[in-house]
This record gives sequence, C-alpha cells and structure tokens, in this order.
Amino acid sequence: MFLTSIRRSAAMAVLAGIGLPVAVISSGASAQSYPTKTITLIIAFAPGGPSDTLGRITADHMSRTLGQQIVVENVGGAGGTVGTERAAKSAPDGYTLFQHHTAFPAAQSLYSNLRYDTRTAFETIGLINTGPMVLTSRKSLDVKDAKSLIGWIKEQGDKVTVGHAGVASNSHLCSLLLMQVAASKPALVPYRGTGPAMNDLVAGQIDLLCDQATTATPQVVAGAIKAYAVTSAERLPALPDVPSAKEAGLTGFDMVIWNGFYAPKGSPKPILDTLHAALQKMVDDPKVIERFAQTGTVTFPKEQRSMEAHRKLLESEIERFAVMIKATGVKQEAVK
Ligand code: MLT
Repeated sequence: MFLTSIRRSAAMAVLAGIGLPVAVISSGASAQSYPTKTITLIIAFAPGGPSDTLGRITADHMSRTLGQQIVVENVGGAGGTVGTERAAKSAPDGYTLFQHHTAFPAAQSLYSNLRYDTRTAFETIGLINTGPMVLTSRKSLDVKDAKSLIGWIKEQGDKVTVGHAGVASNSHLCSLLLMQVAASKPALVPYRGTGPAMNDLVAGQIDLLCDQATTATPQVVAGAIKAYAVTSAERLPALPDVPSAKEAGLTGFDMVIWNGFYAPKGSPKPILDTLHAALQKMVDDPKVIERFAQTGTVTFPKEQRSMEAHRKLLESEIERFAVMIKATGVKQEAVK
C-alpha cells in the first residue's frame, strides 16, 4: 500500500535529515515514491484538436495533484494508431501514459495489421468525459440548414471536400455516417488530427468537417464556421441554436464519443491507483466540469468511473464497432 502523504513527508524528512537520498526508499518498491520525475502523456492526434485540448487540461490538472510535470506528446498518424502503438510499447512504469477516445476500439475493426492488441495492450485508469460531434462547414458556404446541406452534398458529389483525422478517427466515422445519410461520396481529406483540419475549414480550404464538440463549439460560437447539427439526441446547452440530428431530419446521424485514460499493460497496481485517484480529483473539480460544459461535454456518473467500468465499456465498444463496421462493408486499411 501507499504511504499516506503525511507518512511519506515524515519518511522523506527523516531520510533527508540523515543525508540519505529519498530515492533509496523506492528501490524495489518504486510505486511508493511515484512519481519522481516528469511523465509523458501520449496524444494520438495533432496539436489543436479535441484530443490535444483535453490532454492538456488533464495533464495540467493531474500534474498539480501528483506534484510532477506531465508533458503532452502528440504522436499523430493513421487515425491515432501510430500514437497508440507507441504508448502500448512504452515501459509499464507510470512514466508514459495515454489518453484516447472512441477511435481506439473502432480501429480494431478498421485496420488489418495493428501491432498491438486493443483488448490487452493497456490498463484502464478511468473514463474522462463524453460528448457529441458537430457537423460544420466553412463560413462562406451558402447553405442554410441541414436538409439543404444534404441536398447540396448529393448535387455536388465528389466536388465536396470533407476533412477528417484518419481512418477510424471520430471525424472519419462521422464522415462515413454523413455519406450514408446523404447517399453520396464526397472527397474525404485526411489530416493528422482535426486541429489542422479545423484550421483549413476556418480558412475555407475545405467544405465540411464533423468534429467533436470540444473544438467545434468555440469556433461556432466565434462565428468562424457554420454548424448544421449535433449528433446527440438533445441540443447542446453550449450551442442552443444548433439542432439535434433528429430535429434537423438527419435519420441515423447519431454519434457520441468518450475519452479514457490508460497506462501500458503491466503497470504496477499502486501506480494505477494513484493515477485513478488523481483523475477522479480532476473530474470532480467544478472548474473542470464547467470547462467541459462550455465545450459540450460532460463527465461520467460516479458509478461508471471505476477502472473496471472503463474496461467493460472498452470491451463492449470493440464488439459494437466490429458488428457495425462489418454491416457497412467498409474495407480494412493497413497501417504502413
Ligand atoms: C483529434 O484530436 O484530432 C480528434 O480527436 C481526431 C478525431 O476526429 O477522432
């Protein structure tokens, strides 16, 4: 078991007093003094997107709780699978952690040659938040509502450009849904994350982007892009003028994403417990809850926040995506 913080400070004071380096107490029991150095948090997409935004909130909050800096490392590529592989192959010592979303279980069915096993590569530390996607367009697009947008996509066919963050990413899955709803094949434009895709949308370089509420909301509120629908059953309080998919008449355009926190398989249980507790402190913080609300996401109810509940959700999502993706007949990609 961990020393309580009081017992630990007392032990450290005694050791310091007799001139022994504090690290001595950690030999053979490294978890007891964890963390003693900077931690890396791998984010599997480019800077500026929703994963990066959330990763920086998490890193900042947990750094303060743990008393050690957490540095975000963006490892984008192949719909998040490049960063996932890097995280999965890191030492299971608590100094490389990983945050990922719904694309993690989806990738299992969309790639033929993943070099990690989605089911066993990570320890689940806990769920962070959940929210919908927002269907958006460049500001200059002269289309007034979702129904007209679908008509325009049908009419323009592959002249329409839709940005996404790589096969299996949320924005890619949302683009596939859009293609189904519109029964049309626009040109899909891949990026290493929706951060750069959103920059191009704001600059009018691409027509459409279906991005998470986390980063779509501030751009819509600022008037930099247009929004046509959110993929949830209800409107978002942060975007009261944007209809739900149902209100907008987009049947089947439903998608809710969730984010979780992970450590490589085999990380010591006391370290996982410390990280889980730090994560709970963050998701219970009213300031964090308020920040999430401003960008259309919510934390999970307490009963769904355990490490076991996170694992259960991950496993059920692997199954759900396997069935769904098989039914759509979408071909698997190979990670190069
Ligand atoms: C990102 O941060 O770029 C997104 O989470 C990617 C995605 O659409 O899944």
